[in-house]
Amino acid sequence: MPKPKEVSPPRPELGEIIIIPDRTKRVLEPSEIFNETEANLYIEGCDFPETSDYIIPAVWLDNEFSVSGKNILEICTGPGNLALEISKLGAKNVVGLDGDPTMINHARQKQNFAEGLKFQLGLVDNMPFNNDTFDLTIVQNSMHQLFNPLDALKEMVRVLKPGGTGVIRDFDRLCSEEDLIERLKHTKPGIVELLLDSILAAQTPEEWTEMLNQIPDIASFEIRKVPDPRGSSPEVDRLIALDPVPHWLDHLISQDVIFVKK
Ligand SMILES: C[S@@+](CC[C@H](N)C(=O)[O-])C[C@H]1O[C@@H](n2cnc3c(N)ncnc32)[C@H](O)[C@@H]1O
Repeated sequence: MPKPKEVSPPRPELGEIIIIPDRTKRVLEPSEIFNETEANLYIEGCDFPETSDYIIPAVWLDNEFSVSGKNILEICTGPGNLALEISKLGAKNVVGLDGDPTMINHARQKQNFAEGLKFQLGLVDNMPFNNDTFDLTIVQNSMHQLFNPLDALKEMVRVLKPGGTGVIRDFDRLCSEEDLIERLKHTKPGIVELLLDSILAAQTPEEWTEMLNQIPDIASFEIRKVPDPRGSSPEVDRLIALDPVPHWLDHLISQDVIFVKK
């Protein structure tokens, strides 16, 4: 499949100067779980029809690990879009977990669009699941928001079956300045500061390595840059060509943390 050659042009209304903050220290976001107004704004921002934001990680997950017939948990599911896309690709059961009732109530409206999809209210540091339940656990663009990501990581491992895989896709606080500027150039004014706050709250590869090394049940792990999604499927390419806000450029500033349970 030929890849589109160019990204869409930078937004003309954005000023030329982007000040990149000091990224040496993690700065937590003001809240871990949104209030109701913030949750509704977030949902509104995610639920436009022609977005590639969720199909990109779902297709990647399927190409990489094959979701067919698997029991999959998405934590911090928010509006539930990634869980829905994974379900549509043939997973047996997909559970989306979130600690925010507004998000879960909204996500539950999507349960009818795919079989075996369900959403559950619960906190990531005390998940309402038995040990050894899921083949795959995934979390996208959320770990940076957690005040204690190590507790969530331990829970992701606990609920995985032996040999199961965990995936954390999120920003890399120490992504290259060139890539960060490129991503910000394509970001709506007003969102730039919010995105920078999320990047400042995100973990570095070294911080993930330190956390992963503390969990005896992890057999192996790797941390890699997120691949450019262009060419990963015809549907991804169609949506990227239409995407009004190219969040798909997130791959420039994001990393995948992939681990396997013993
Ligand atoms: C930035 S949103 C991302 C949502 C979704 N993954 C996405 O990509 O659209 C982060 C989500 O994490 C949830 N969250 C934050 N802290 C949590 C916790 N301690 N337990 C469960 N969910 C939590 C929030 O309610 C929110 O829905």
